[in-house]
Amino acid sequence: MKKYLVIGNPIEQSLSPKIHNFWIKQNKIKAIYEKKKIDKADIPSLILDIKKENLQGMNVTVPFKKLVIPYLDEMTECAEKTQSVNTVYKKQNKIIGDNTDIEGFERSLKDTNHDIKNKKIFILGAGGVVSSIILALKNLGAAEIILSNRTREKAENIKKIYSNLKILDWGEIPIFDIIVNATSLGLKKEDKIELNLTNSGQDKLFYDVIYNPDMTNFLMEGKKLGNKVKNGKMMFIYQAQLAFNIWHNILPKIDNETIDLFNS
Ligand code: ATR
Repeated sequence: MKKYLVIGNPIEQSLSPKIHNFWIKQNKIKAIYEKKKIDKADIPSLILDIKKENLQGMNVTVPFKKLVIPYLDEMTECAEKTQSVNTVYKKQNKIIGDNTDIEGFERSLKDTNHDIKNKKIFILGAGGVVSSIILALKNLGAAEIILSNRTREKAENIKKIYSNLKILDWGEIPIFDIIVNATSLGLKKEDKIELNLTNSGQDKLFYDVIYNPDMTNFLMEGKKLGNKVKNGKMMFIYQAQLAFNIWHNILPKIDNETIDLFNS
């Protein structure tokens, strides 16, 4: 029996086991996918488990996407670029780190049919997933990417990777075509982002990386102001699909049944 894990802290809320086990069953693979809450100190022994093939792969989530890097033998080009890893596996006796968040975000954005080329994108937050979002937006031809984070220093750190990023103080609102909430504000139903977006115009895209709850206050406000909205559900499903493909060499189906997994 092959074994896979998602590691993070907290991890209770993760829906990765649900979707991976659904596809494992659908494709009649002999495997199990579990979630594990870990501390940083647990990473070396988990990597050793992959080396010894007690474990065939791991997804990595908050706050370990960067912290896992020193324990890897190699990284794919996009993981290297973003300094962020969400998928780990062994290949030719080497422990490899990959990043499927980038393409996950890219595909979910393509689904909205919003042309990103030459657009101005405003990102809120500077957590682990932001460097992936930025690379995806660059791949799609965004003209300008503006970042604002409560702790400005963390935004400045991301600018070390992407030098032409524009950083604004928390509370400053630029002109934008698309706004992305990549903060954790919204995970709790009552969370509100205290930013005044009422003068930002209409017909923009409000994108929230959060998918549970499926309508955050951020998206509700966006909608009320006359904008299109999109949550992080498809980004999550696509990143899982791409990780599944890396491990099992099968691109699993995304259909209504897959999407329905998130409604129950
Ligand atoms: P990590 O930073 O460990 O990767 P994350 O959940 O990916 O964790 O990121 C949390 C993001 O939400 C951060 O950008 C955080 O801002 P700080 O860097 O200032 O902590 C942001 N965030 C969380 N609570 C917030 C709040 N009350 N107001 C504004 N931003 C908040």
